[in-house]
Amino acid sequence: MAPADQTRKTASGDSRIAASAVGDDIASRLLGWYDLHHRELPWRITPREHARGARPDPYRIWLSEVMLQQTTVEAVKAYFRVFVEKWPDVEALAAAPTEDVMKAWAGLGYYSRARNLKACADLVARRGGRFPDTETALRELPGIGAYTSAAITAIAFDRPAAVVDGNVERVISRLFSITAPLSEAKAEIRAHVERMVPGTRPGDFAQAMMDLGATICTPRRPRCMLCPLREGCSAVVSGDPEHFPVRLPKAEKPLRRGAAFVAVRGDGAILLRKRAEKGLLGGMTEVPTTAWTARIDGATTPSAAPFPGNWKLTGRIAHVFTHFALELDVFLAATNGETPAGHFWSLPSDISGEALPTVMKKAIEAAIPGATKKPSPHSAKRPA
Ligand code: ADE
Repeated sequence: MAPADQTRKTASGDSRIAASAVGDDIASRLLGWYDLHHRELPWRITPREHARGARPDPYRIWLSEVMLQQTTVEAVKAYFRVFVEKWPDVEALAAAPTEDVMKAWAGLGYYSRARNLKACADLVARRGGRFPDTETALRELPGIGAYTSAAITAIAFDRPAAVVDGNVERVISRLFSITAPLSEAKAEIRAHVERMVPGTRPGDFAQAMMDLGATICTPRRPRCMLCPLREGCSAVVSGDPEHFPVRLPKAEKPLRRGAAFVAVRGDGAILLRKRAEKGLLGGMTEVPTTAWTARIDGATTPSAAPFPGNWKLTGRIAHVFTHFALELDVFLAATNGETPAGHFWSLPSDISGEALPTVMKKAIEAAIPGATKKPSPHSAKRPA
């Protein structure tokens, strides 16, 4: 809810704007800009389509918003298209084997999101296939938190909700020159957005804020000259919009190290195994690796390989997870095709469809360049 006193000035006084005095004006300027400059996105109903009575499909909005949590719009587009082609509605997704969903998700990261996605589809399908249209009811579904419930409420159902993602935080921090570090300014930012959300077109308003943050009010070199909110933006007045949002220095991530083993059979198949269901990359597929220890103790050795062999060091890959950075030394060996317990072989024609997270694709690529890429139809061998 918006605070009762909507006309107060913010703490630092004159150089800032009082939210409600311009809130409606901000919404109308932003919507006018969005009508002309919105991005075309595969899950989106454009303002013109909207005005003609088209309504977004809540399934597609839910799916896109879950994918977009901590992933870029560009990265999501291709995944979204594959998903809706394979599973055009929530019932189809609910009927899909989890294995297939994990494979389609491979490379998007944050694999617990894919599990929650499937659990949510199962629940919604069991309840008749309709997504709830309030933030409270949406939040009770698996994998739907504050951000996603607000985004679905606004975008899919065109109901007022304060949708605050990283783009919106940046726009608001600049508009009001919020000097508190972002981690401490969340409530203040949300309160500003709550006051601005218009009664009409709240869904377009939410998307317009995101588009403004993504295309004009960018982290570096914002294009303030083109911004519909330029007038009244106190970061423009300050002369240094890039200063906002204020961030505390990031703690350095701990480094973990280990070794990965790419074993290749005569027919080109690669030895894989499935990770435990719970924990990091839960249920995804991997090449055998050592434990990823916190210690840095010089070069890793191939002694922890799945079987003895002529292991050759082929490279080192690096990958950054949310809580740590990882370096893996990658070893390659040809084998006679024995299958260690709990492992399986994936043929060259199948490997691109396995549920391999990006770190594992990097490891395989370091040993056998091109191995995880989809075979192009032109590279198929001609019959002799
Ligand atoms: N980022 C997250 N959700 C988005 C959306 N619906 N449109 C554009 N960018 C987004």
